[in-house]
Amino acid sequence: MASMLKYSNAALLPLYVVCFLIPAALARPATYLQDFRTTWGDTHIRQLDGGRAIQLVLDQNSGCGFASKYQYLFGKVSMKIKLIPGDSAGTVTAFYMNSDTDTIRDELDFEFLGNRTGQPYTVQTNVYAHGKGDREQRVNLWFDPAAAFHTYSILWNHNMVVFYVDDVPIRVYKNNEARGIPFPKSQPMGVYSTLWEADDWATRGGIEKIDWSKAPFLSYYKDFDIEGCPVPGPAACASNVRNWWEGAAYKQLSPIEARRYRWVRMNHMTYDYCTDKSRYPNTPPECLAGI
Ligand SMILES: *[C@@H]1O[C@H](CO)[C@@H](O)[C@H](O)[C@H]1NC(C)=O
Repeated sequence: MASMLKYSNAALLPLYVVCFLIPAALARPATYLQDFRTTWGDTHIRQLDGGRAIQLVLDQNSGCGFASKYQYLFGKVSMKIKLIPGDSAGTVTAFYMNSDTDTIRDELDFEFLGNRTGQPYTVQTNVYAHGKGDREQRVNLWFDPAAAFHTYSILWNHNMVVFYVDDVPIRVYKNNEARGIPFPKSQPMGVYSTLWEADDWATRGGIEKIDWSKAPFLSYYKDFDIEGCPVPGPAACASNVRNWWEGAAYKQLSPIEARRYRWVRMNHMTYDYCTDKSRYPNTPPECLAGI
């Protein structure tokens, strides 16, 4: 509901007001129940702080998951997450957007792959556009994501998709439709998160198994913030060029962001499908179109 209000107010206001005042005027974050519903393992999601935060539990009985009540067409989604501390090998925490359309699926994925104590968490990202995925990239985090909350965000507008860790872009997928490269732009996507066991592949390719003696595994979420065009909602919203996420500042990375992005790619990237010649003897076209 909050996001719909935000849209209808924003549409009435001059551009400069939209750009500078709206974020403060209609302050998010929302509570869990305002934006989300539990999709599985409901005994394993606990609301904290009056629903402004949640705890996710993974044990031998179950993991859990939640999804947004609405789908959205463009916008920015972010939340603060504190991942499983200590030995998290074999666990996967996912935060993603998904159109829920089987064959022509659009999907934007963050997957946090646990590790043995003292080994770095891996963040895997993937982009599905019009049913085609297999675009994995991996970075190792430069901080301990279990020691404190960090903000993970997905910005999605007509020009690009950007995955952020705090204020650092770790992945950019540009709209290169002009070169025949698919870009998600016509299907709304829901916001999802899950915590589950995937020790057949998650950590060192499945070599490191989950240690159930360390269960329950706990992660924490707070500051849920979805700003976008809700579906169902005002039909004209998604094409409104005055939505802040379509603004000039979001059409490409700022110089500071571009510098941070280069730093991540040079120092923290551990896998890029674009350079995986055994999988892709011919470099995928989006990789040649510029990062
Ligand atoms: C876990 O740690 C190992 C050793 O540092 C590293 O090679 C690997 O990329 C890390 N992440 C995963 C998900 O295996």
